[in-house]
Parts: sequence; C-alpha cells; structure tokens
Amino acid sequence: MATSTKKVGGLAGVNAGESAICTCGTGHGLNYRGYDIYDLAEHCEFEEVAYLLLREKLPNKDELASFKKELIAARNLPKELKEVLKLLPKNAHPMDVMRSACSVLGCLEPEEYDVFKASFPNQQRISTRLLGIFPSVLTFWHHYHTSGKEINTESKQDSIAGYFLESLHQKEPKELWIKAMHTSLILYAEHEFNASTFTARVITATISDVYSGITGAIGALRGPLHGGANEAAMELISEFSTPEQATQGILDKLARKDKIMGFGHRVYVEKDPRNVVIKQWSKKLSDDIGDTKDLYQISEAIEKVMWDQKKLFPNLDFYSASTYHFMGIPTLYFTPIFIFSRTAGWLAHIMEQRANNKLIRPSSEYTGPDNKVFVPLNKR
Ligand SMILES: CC(C)(COP(=O)(O)OP(=O)(O)OC[C@H]1O[C@@H](n2cnc3c(N)ncnc32)[C@H](O)[C@@H]1OP(=O)(O)O)[C@@H](O)C(=O)NCCC(=O)NCCS
Repeated sequence: MATSTKKVGGLAGVNAGESAICTCGTGHGLNYRGYDIYDLAEHCEFEEVAYLLLREKLPNKDELASFKKELIAARNLPKELKEVLKLLPKNAHPMDVMRSACSVLGCLEPEEYDVFKASFPNQQRISTRLLGIFPSVLTFWHHYHTSGKEINTESKQDSIAGYFLESLHQKEPKELWIKAMHTSLILYAEHEFNASTFTARVITATISDVYSGITGAIGALRGPLHGGANEAAMELISEFSTPEQATQGILDKLARKDKIMGFGHRVYVEKDPRNVVIKQWSKKLSDDIGDTKDLYQISEAIEKVMWDQKKLFPNLDFYSASTYHFMGIPTLYFTPIFIFSRTAGWLAHIMEQRANNKLIRPSSEYTGPDNKVFVPLNKR
C-alpha cells in the first residue's frame, strides 16, 4: 500500500503514551474508565464522575456523600487569595484569573513531595481542593468587580453544578439548570490526550507539583482551538438575528476561508458523541426560557450549512454555548466552566503519569541551516 508523504503535523495520529482513563472513538465514541459517556451523562451527578476519574471506581452512596463533604469544605477561599482576586483587574480575561488563582493557591498551600518515597502524599486532598475551590474563585472575582460585594462561599447546594449557579446568580437555581450543568460538567470532564491534558502530563513528568500541571493546562485550554471555542461559538451565534441570516453569514465566512468555531475535531471523524447530549439540553433550555432570539434555531442553521458545505459537525463546544447562555451565564465564563470539569480529567492524568513516570521529551526534525561560518562580534 502506498503511504502518503504529506506531513500532517500537530502529532495527529501519533500514540503519545498509554492511559487507562478514557477512550475516544470506540463504543458510542467516548468512555471514561470503561463506562459509556451516555450512561454517565444520563444517570450520574458530576461528583460521581469526578470520583470515578480520581479514585478509579464509581462511588457508593456513602463514598459519594463523604466526597461531596470534602468538596464543600474545599470551596473556602483563603484571605490572601481573596486579596489577589480583588487586585486583579476588572477587565482581565476570566481564564487569566483562573490561571493566576491556581498558581497563587500553589504558593499558599504548596504540594509536598516525599523524597524518600518519591511520592506526592497529598495529591488526593489537593485534587479535591482544586475541584472545590475553582467555582468560588470565579464567582468571588465576578461579584467583587461587578458590584463591589465580597460574597461568601456558604451555600446549601451540595454539588459543584448547583453551587456555581447559585453563587453566580446569588439565588437558588432551578432544578432543570442544575441537571443541565451536571450533564455539561460530565461531558467536559475527560478527553484522553487533548492539548491541555497533554500539557499537564508533560509538566508532571518533570516531577513538578500539581498546581504547575493544572496552571499549565489552564493556559492550554484558554485558546480558541481548544476550550476557548465555546466562548467563540457564542460570539458567532450572536452575530445573527435569524436562521436565514446565519446560513448566508456562514457561507460568506467559508468563502473567506474563516474557521468556524465549535466545529470539527482532531479525533472524531463523523460526529462528536458529546454533541448529541448537549444539543438536547440546548433545545430543552431554549424551550424552557422561551428564547425569543431563536439562538437554538440559528445554531441548527449553522450546523446544517457546515455539514452541507464542509461535512463538518458540531463539537461539544458549539451547543454548550447556547446551553450556558440560556442559563444566564456570561459568555466569558464559558471556558472557566470547562476548567471546573476538566480539572477532574487533568488530575486523573497527573496521578496516572506519576504512577509510572517517564520524562516526556520528544525529538524534533531539524530544518534550519547547516555549516554557517562563525563571524566574531567585532566583525558583524
Ligand atoms: C478542532 C480543530 C482544531 C482540529 O484541527 P485539525 O485536526 O488540526 O484539523 P485542521 O484545522 O487542519 O482542519 C482540516 C481541514 O478542515 C478544515 N476545518 C477544520 N475545522 C474547521 C472549522 N471549524 N471551520 C472551517 N474549516 C475547518 C480546515 O480548514 C482544514 O481544511 P484544509 O485541509 O482545506 O486546509 C479544528 O477542527 C478547528 O480549528 N475547529 C474549530 C475550533 C474548535 O471548535 N475547537 C474545539 C475542538 S473540541
């Protein structure tokens, strides 16, 4: 069989290591630790899935209750971190705020390394801490810079989904919204060797601390080719007032060779299995709020034209955008929500990398000049 000499780049199709956490592209298309994402999304709370990723089994009732207790205790913001959040500018990108907060927490509550056992004894505790604290970071910063109010982290919500919505809106969220948020967090929780997870693994492989791994992962997630696509998809949908306008607008963009954010995927070829679930939620919430801007219909028009013209399908980010919008979440907070969820996947990969560590240091193919004649400084 003839092999193509075209270089694909971006390590596409390269198996960069082993992992027992997730498979993309088998079964329905996505499994976490052997469980089908459709079963998890339909029947679980996000905390069950986070537990599965971090502790390698689904929790029973008692285990879930005690994990949730730990997560609730972990919402608390240290006063030094609050001061930093107050000092960060109002117009900072929320992803920069999240990245900075993670790094600051690493200074305040550093991870201990046991040199004799060559292990990180507190990695589970810090994992819970990070999962618990991230929603508090975003909503504290948000409220301080929009109304001057220093919110506290008290809430009777026992889940990350409910707590985030309540803390953001400062009122009890609808059950339907909490369920939608659980589902979204489950769908975003893990995705094999994606860019941010791989970043976390590369950092971890140097025997660095967990905060460095997560801070680096947040940086990788921020870009519009990765997590930032949900924010960019919302901006795109909002450009149009009608489905007809959207169809024409996308045709124009494609003619200009623009990238349409929220479409396409490196691993999936025909569809993103997560989209099936989130699209249903977008419709449900659109009907629930009686959306007068037809954002769901506009999204469907974009989906149709992208498939007709390019055979490109929406990825998870596309309908997540309208789903979040219908819950009154500001567009700039879409990618930080991705952090609340993917932190579980990142942490699972950090622990897996540590359990069988090998420095990740590939080689490059040199394409620069050779045999240059050296000229001393005073002759250049
Ligand atoms: C996800 C993504 C980065 C995968 O990238 P990739 O595997 O490197 O594939 P490429 O970007 O090289 O795309 C291959 C071809 O499809 C086209 N394509 C891929 N995604 C596209 C999109 N969203 N809009 C328009 N064209 C797209 C490319 O222009 C390219 O066409 P060409 O071969 O004629 O140049 C890419 O599909 C993309 O940029 N999507 C938009 C961002 C996004 O939604 N990211 C979230 C991913 S979950």
